[in-house]
Amino acid sequence: MEVAASAGGGGSKTPDEIIAKHCNACHGTGLLGAPKIGDTAAWKDRADHQGGLDGILAKAITGINSMPPKGTCADCSDDDLKGAIKKMSGL
Ligand code: HEC
Repeated sequence: MEVAASAGGGGSKTPDEIIAKHCNACHGTGLLGAPKIGDTAAWKDRADHQGGLDGILAKAITGINSMPPKGTCADCSDDDLKGAIKKMSGL
């Protein structure tokens, strides 16, 4: 797939692209116990217990149980991941 050049440049990805390519496989259906996209209550419950959005971001970077490090998006920056998490969680 061609990656469209965006105004931001530098190979930056949009949250939607990251989610579609990397996160949706598990978070779309709740595979392996993953919190589902749009299920804000489930995400909020995790965030509340782990220091908020930055807390769950930290787990997403290192991986937690069946959740692979960076959700398989090896070339995602922390900000890329944070954008995807915000979008999936609605937080
Ligand atoms: C192979 C399946 C899989 C993929 C791909 C995946 N996740 Fe997950 N994710 C999980 C599972 C399973 C959990 C729940 C882990 C647990 O608590 O046992 C999880 C949990 C999380 C959490 C909550 C962590 C916490 O502290 O509770 C975040 C944030 C997250 N994923 C972000 C992402 C992002 C962003 C992507 C895409 C870049 C992604 N995930 C891709 C399976 C996946």
